[in-house]
Amino acid sequence: MEMENFKHFLVALCAAGAVGLVSIIFVLRWVLHYKEGLGWDGGLAEFNWHPVLIVTGFVFLQGMAIIVYRLPWTWRCSKLTMKFIHAGLNLLAFICAVISMVAVFDFHNAAKIPNMYSLHSWLGLIAVTLYCLQLVLGVGMYLIPITPVSWRAAFMPLHVYSGLLLFSSVIAVALMGITEKLIFGLSNPKYKDSPPEAIFVNVLGVLLVVFGALILWIATRASWKRPNDQILHSLHTNVGGEDNTKVGPAMSQLSDAADDEAFGDVRRRSNKPDDQAN
Ligand code: HEM
Ligand code: HEM
Repeated sequence: MEMENFKHFLVALCAAGAVGLVSIIFVLRWVLHYKEGLGWDGGLAEFNWHPVLIVTGFVFLQGMAIIVYRLPWTWRCSKLTMKFIHAGLNLLAFICAVISMVAVFDFHNAAKIPNMYSLHSWLGLIAVTLYCLQLVLGVGMYLIPITPVSWRAAFMPLHVYSGLLLFSSVIAVALMGITEKLIFGLSNPKYKDSPPEAIFVNVLGVLLVVFGALILWIATRASWKRPNDQILHSLHTNVGGEDNTKVGPAMSQLSDAADDEAFGDVRRRSNKPDDQAN
């Protein structure tokens, strides 16, 4: 039964990875095969960096950053190491988003197209700005060692909620962008006549929704959460001589108790009240 839980995790993880990678292949094929390719010349080839960097960076890398704590084989790594990986992947995603925005603004300015007129651009800029805020607050709260432990614990539910909300919003904004581009870009035949490019890119939109759904599923299962370091420590010492590198069994032992309430109990009994929020 517990092993079953681990298998379910692996299935969800592989599905998310596969759908994410196929989305990247789709966006590359879109711009390289159907569109003008990639370049940095103020023209359409420069605009094309916009969807490519959004899908690979802002959607895929952000999705991976969100679930990185949940990989059972990383539970042997220190929480600090995982924080650097989580923060690093999120920073990389942010850098991709910023370059993708430079590409589209540059293209608009070179072609004398107005800036910031669409709902897509409004919500997109808001999402990137709030993502930057989330990044700065995350570093301030969880990487800088002087932040009081009580603040870390109090802020964690908000950090998780706003992280998941931002991730979902980014996918919604990407879908609006895809639709706009298809309406603008297809003229002969038009979008409404369902040319192969339209069908292909509609499928990309569906893939992005499925990717988002899988990441949200993985990130919200209580029994797949990274256990509190104290629980991991006592498991390793209790197993008595068993190889500590085997995180599979550790995960299955935890699966029944691994909800927030169970960790809350341990937390209350320990001297470090917020180990989970560290
Ligand atoms: C324009 C952000 C995803 C297509 C813009 C602009 C911003 C933006 C701020 C305005 C640029 C300007 O006014 O000069 C975002 C964000 C995205 C995203 C944050 C990810 C969540 C996409 C995707 C596509 C796309 C995947 C698909 C091709 C477009 C198009 C424009 C545009 C066609 C020009 C028309 C307009 O300003 O609405 N985007 N975008 N976007 N974006 Fe995106
Ligand atoms: C957890 C999002 C930046 C530290 C989470 C979770 C999400 C998230 C969705 C829940 C994951 C889970 O339950 O397994 C984001 C986003 C960020 C960001 C979107 C950037 C925009 C940061 C930064 C740090 C950080 C810079 C600093 C180290 C943490 C910590 C956890 C966490 C400590 C708790 C993990 C656990 O106890 O299992 N983040 N985060 N986050 N994040 Fe972030």
